[in-house]
Amino acid sequence: MGPSHPQNSDRPLVDPEALAHVFDALGGGVVDVKPRLLFTECERRFPDPIPLHLFLPPSGIGSITLIEAAVMTALVNLIQPRGIFEFGTFLGYSTALFLRNSPASSPVCSIDLGAAANALDLASGLVEADVRQDAQKNDDFLRSRQGVLGPTYLRNLPPHEAGRLTLLQGDSRALDVSARNLRGRFGLVFVDGGHDEETVRSDTEKAYELIDGDGLILWHDFRSAIHGDVTTYLDKLSSHILVVSVTNTLLAFTAVGNTRTRLISRAAPR
Ligand SMILES: C[S@@+](CC[C@H](N)C(=O)[O-])C[C@H]1O[C@@H](n2cnc3c(N)ncnc32)[C@H](O)[C@@H]1O
Repeated sequence: MGPSHPQNSDRPLVDPEALAHVFDALGGGVVDVKPRLLFTECERRFPDPIPLHLFLPPSGIGSITLIEAAVMTALVNLIQPRGIFEFGTFLGYSTALFLRNSPASSPVCSIDLGAAANALDLASGLVEADVRQDAQKNDDFLRSRQGVLGPTYLRNLPPHEAGRLTLLQGDSRALDVSARNLRGRFGLVFVDGGHDEETVRSDTEKAYELIDGDGLILWHDFRSAIHGDVTTYLDKLSSHILVVSVTNTLLAFTAVGNTRTRLISRAAPR
């Protein structure tokens, strides 16, 4: 886990019984919840155990962990998003997770730089020790690696998954949500692209356009030991919105509109 943050250190973990009160209790701030809270909610609402379909996690840097995959799948089941948008495809690991564990009616759209990153010659001279410590070098390494390898985990998708997937190539900061007819089409947006504060802010602002008043925004690398800008940005954002941080992961989320109600509802969503 990354460095501790004084403003959160005195906050108790939310009691497993209290998810229904998390969003009502506070106007803003950061609340820590255990993954178990979300798993408990799934058990309460669904009569059958929820399967988790996934590849073994990539051994290299730059993707999610097993516990994060489980938390993301729990959130998808709790909110049943009308569509999923992802900033940062990388090798397609989280994209494939979303495809395999979301409703068959849910489109999945992911953006990354693609082959354009190759022209940037980002990885030359990088050594692993630096990549593991320096935020800029880490991001440059990831951009370069996805440009060279492409979305490995999205090869050989079955037709019913390939038909739901749209891969966009380009700089997410230049994404025009309205011109692409993407406004309001997504119930879940995963922000996991560039980790500098400018890019996190830009991607988050576009996430609000993509959900258009109703959806869940999920960030990766909150309290990351490397990417401090994500924490800096979310700590600022939490002055006026509630950010829920999931312990033992680098995930944090906020829910807006009806999705907020769906997340804390006691009734089964289907
Ligand atoms: C941490 S990786 C994403 C990991 C992936 N979500 C997963 O869990 O498997 C971050 C990705 O963001 C991409 N990225 C960085 N800056 C970007 C930008 N400005 N526009 C689009 N993609 C960007 C990088 O190329 C890299 O592939």
